[in-house]
Formats: sequence, C-alpha cells, structure tokens
Amino acid sequence: MGHTVICVDKDESKIRELQASRPTLYEDGLNDLFIKKCHEGKLSFTSCMKEGVSQADVVIIAVGTPSKYQSEAPDLQFLYQAADEIAAYLRDYTVIAIKSTVPVGTGDKIEQRISQIAPQCDFDVVSLPEFLREGFALHDFLHPDRIVVGTESERARNVIRRMYAPLLKETRILEVTRRSSEVIKYAANAFLAVKIHYINEIADFCEKVGAEISEVTMGMGSDPRIGSRFLCPGPGYGGSCFPKDTKALVYMAEKANADMTLVRATIDGNERRSTMVAKKILKEIKDVPRPKIAILGLAFKGGTDDCRESPAIKIVLQLLNEDVIVKVYDPKAMLNARKLLGERVEYAKDAYEAITDADVTAILTDWSEFTNIDWGKAAHLVHRKIVVDCRNIVHIQDIKQKRYKLRRIGGKD
Ligand code: UDX
Repeated sequence: MGHTVICVDKDESKIRELQASRPTLYEDGLNDLFIKKCHEGKLSFTSCMKEGVSQADVVIIAVGTPSKYQSEAPDLQFLYQAADEIAAYLRDYTVIAIKSTVPVGTGDKIEQRISQIAPQCDFDVVSLPEFLREGFALHDFLHPDRIVVGTESERARNVIRRMYAPLLKETRILEVTRRSSEVIKYAANAFLAVKIHYINEIADFCEKVGAEISEVTMGMGSDPRIGSRFLCPGPGYGGSCFPKDTKALVYMAEKANADMTLVRATIDGNERRSTMVAKKILKEIKDVPRPKIAILGLAFKGGTDDCRESPAIKIVLQLLNEDVIVKVYDPKAMLNARKLLGERVEYAKDAYEAITDADVTAILTDWSEFTNIDWGKAAHLVHRKIVVDCRNIVHIQDIKQKRYKLRRIGGKD
C-alpha cells in the first residue's frame, strides 16, 4: 500500500531470520511479496523498540494474548509490556492501534498506562481488530469485508483512514466506539465457532438418521440469512483464535454477570469432538491386532503449517492411548507436529508413504492434495481399503468405484 513498515519483536532469533529475508511461517504467496518489500526497503525488522516506534505515525500492537495457564482468562502481560515500552519512545502525535484480541476495556487501561509513563505525550489508543484467516492473511488483508476502527477520537480516525486509503475503494470502514470494537472481535469469532459446532452436531444427527450433510448444508446455506460459509462439518475447530477467544468471551461474560450459554456449550462440544472422531476411526479397525493407522493432515486446517490447538493432533494423541501404530503426513506442518508428537508416531515423506500397509486411513486436515489422491494407486499400497474422511473432501464416487469403504462426517455411507 506504499507505507514503510518496521516490525519489532523481542525474539531476536526470529528477527535474525526475518532480517535474512526468511519468513518464519508458511503462507501461499507470502514469500514473494515479503522478499520484494524487504528489497525495496519498505519492510524491515528490529528488536530495538526505539528504532521502530520513534518515527512512526501509527504503532500497531499485535502481540499474542494466549489463555493464561489453566485458565480461560486471556494473558495480557505481553500487551502491557509492549505498551509500557512504546510509551518510553513516543515523540510526536502517534496513534497506538491494538490489533491483538483483547478484553473489553483494555484500550482504556493501555491509555491510562501510557499517560502515566509519558504524561507529556500526544497519542490516541485505537482498537483495530483483525479478521484475517491464517493461510489467507494476505488475501483477507487486501480484500477485507470490513475494516473496524474503534475510537472516540476524530483525529485518530483520520490517521487510520489515511492508512487504509488504498483499500477504501472496495471496502467500508466501520467507525465505532473503542469498547464496541473490542466486543466485535470476540462476538464474530465466537459466532463462527458456534456455527461450526452447530453444523457438526447437525452432521452427527444426519449420520444417525440416514441423511446427507452436504445436501442439508446446501439447502440451509442457500438462505442468505444463514449463508453457506463455515458450514463444513469436520473434526472440530482449532487454531490460535477460536479456542482461546471463545473461552475468553465466556470468562468476560461471567465477570460481567452476563449469560453466554451458547458459547459455553460450543466450547464443551468442540472439546468432546476429538474423542468422538478418534472412536470413529478406531471402530473401523476394532478387530485388527495392533493396527496401523495412516493420518493425512496435522495442521489445524489446510493452507497453514500451524498445529496450535489442532484437532488432528488431539485425535492422534487419543489414538496413541490404544495399541496402534500411527504414521502421519502433512504437506507443511511436519516440523510443528514433531514438536508436539515427538517420536511417538512415524513420519512419512508423502501421503502414499503414510498409507502404505495402513489398516485405515484418516483424513484430518482439508488440504487439496488429499482431495487429489490417486486412490487407484493407493489401493496397491494400503493393507485395508478403509478411509475415514473427517473433512468430507474425497470424491465419493471415485473412491467407491475403487471399492473402498468410505466413512465421512454426516454422510449416509
Ligand atoms: C479465524 C477467523 O476466521 C478469523 O476471522 C480471525 O481473524 C482468526 O480466527 P483462523 O483461525 O485462521 O481464522 O481459521 P478459520 O479458517 O476461521 O478456521 C478455524 C477452524 O475452524 C479450523 O480448525 C477450521 O478447520 C475449522 N472450520 C472452519 C471448520 O471446521 N468448518 C468450517 O466450515 C470452517
């Protein structure tokens, strides 16, 4: 968009990687743009806060706000540390935009802290929630459905309007109060989580009554009041946002003495789901002594190497409680998965190696690579032609023609 961006992080090893033009995460298309912008001198990295902050018109805080250990409350220590350090280097009027997902009222607290540390400074604190999906962050950033700006300051709104100017031809800016903006992020994420859990329950119901979930979602999703997106049943939602944000919303509601029963039920149902899916896989091999299970997909969804709160990892851990051999493969997430699964599973270099000698093959992540598996070729490799497709991405006719037993989520098999 033409801006100059300086990224600051405390993790010096990460900064060194980025300074050497090596992105520290995978996303399709990210690498090329990243290298181009580094070479143009528009994008740089430093672990020195002063270097990043002292010349900036806008300082965006995007630190993590994970759940506290054994608690549903979000941990704001990184956010407060960042704000305190930023305060020390503010010079001219600066907009401090909070992109991290934070509880309602955090903007007020940040404003107070900065005012105390740097009473002479001219600044505004704005809530600027992000709605990017991992794996599609570039696309979502450049083509947003909406940009939400939460502030009572007209001066800050003007700065943010200028920052987003190149996107405003096709997108609306929604200008709201800071507190409403903070709620919007949690309300949106929790709604999507509820939607996914709802369709998972409908899928399980379809399975029990002999209906077909893809037909049901087609019928439901055609109603524009419902919409067809986020109606894919699966092994449950995961990732770095939905699990922690739903918990944080319930926590905040409890503190505010407000009901949040629907979100609470969603969290509980989603947590039970990995056990349910593990059982579904094990059912197919209950008579096989020490069966070999092939797992295709470990990331929490396709298009990313992220395994945080991945349903696939949870399911593998459940399977490992039984006397089974598990061989896993993911196109991008092998390194991250190894950190979580260690030597308890075998690792394959591709899908075909993973399914070799398998008694059952389970697809747990929606990578297009798995939609395109040649099941004819695979038939010569597997021990038993049983596939549990937990993402409903396999071509049903194709695999059935090749005489596989196919189990899906919400399908009439
Ligand atoms: C989410 C929000 O979509 C995004 O707006 C917010 O900024 C961050 O959190 P992300 O965590 O990247 O993004 O993943 P998303 O694509 O939303 O998927 C979340 C989880 O739900 C994944 O595990 C995915 O597999 C699952 N999912 C999604 C389903 O099971 N079914 C669906 O129909 C959609």
